[in-house]
Amino acid sequence: MKIGFIGYGSMTRALAGHWARTHDVMVSGRDVDKAAETAGALGVRSGSVAEAAAFAEVVVLATHHAAVFDAIALAGGAEAFAGKTVIDITNPVSTETFTTTRPDGRSLTQAIADALPGASVGKAFNMAQARVWDDLDKTFDGRQIVALYTADADADATIADLIAEVGAAPVRLGDNAHAYQLEAAAAIVIRFLFAGGDAHTILNLIRPEAKPIR
Ligand SMILES: NC(=O)c1ccc[n+]([C@@H]2O[C@H](COP(=O)([O-])OP(=O)(O)OC[C@H]3O[C@@H](n4cnc5c(N)ncnc54)[C@H](OP(=O)(O)O)[C@@H]3O)[C@@H](O)[C@H]2O)c1
Repeated sequence: MKIGFIGYGSMTRALAGHWARTHDVMVSGRDVDKAAETAGALGVRSGSVAEAAAFAEVVVLATHHAAVFDAIALAGGAEAFAGKTVIDITNPVSTETFTTTRPDGRSLTQAIADALPGASVGKAFNMAQARVWDDLDKTFDGRQIVALYTADADADATIADLIAEVGAAPVRLGDNAHAYQLEAAAAIVIRFLFAGGDAHTILNLIRPEAKPIR
């Protein structure tokens, strides 16, 4: 599968290397030199945001949350995402108040889905810190970490597979109407991280107690 990242920060560095083992990955961002530097370290392709969107079957939105719509515009707007799976990993969370920045009880993921009507959209990877995703070993106290996600029906299987490929157990909360809860829960995680909590221990969900949610 062809996977394009928009954004070349710590989450891209944490996730892209896992998938590069079996997929064709391109890293992009508003600064093509920075994209090339990150891509070079990971041994993957780099390009402009528009090139990554055109290249990818799966686009990972990995910018700062406030930059998502700028990034979509850089990609060429909604048309650039038509027919693609889009994974929103962003956390619209204030690091001053530790609350979601969304004004209306609707998630950023839903706003993205509204802006990209031709794409299949989901939210994943937002509930744990980059170091957790970077680690190859996703077991804690001998049990596998769970990665909660939301997805349109069309994006579900792809996102579940990509979560499994980084070593976590995918658990779908439902469609993107549930993404607000993921964003609000991330505010709790981030609050503990800023208080010095260990990224590997905050709100880890572990199997097999959880029953499938459908
Ligand atoms: N770090 C974590 O542990 C973690 C965990 C879960 C989810 N997340 C979420 O994942 C996303 C990426 O996090 P990160 O830690 O990888 O971030 P980061 O290291 O701070 O990188 C942020 C990225 O956003 C880009 N960006 C900022 N403003 C932009 C704009 N106006 N247009 C285009 N690109 C812009 C930056 O490019 P420049 O360098 O050019 O500014 C950079 O590539 C964030 O939304 C974050 O909330 C992070």
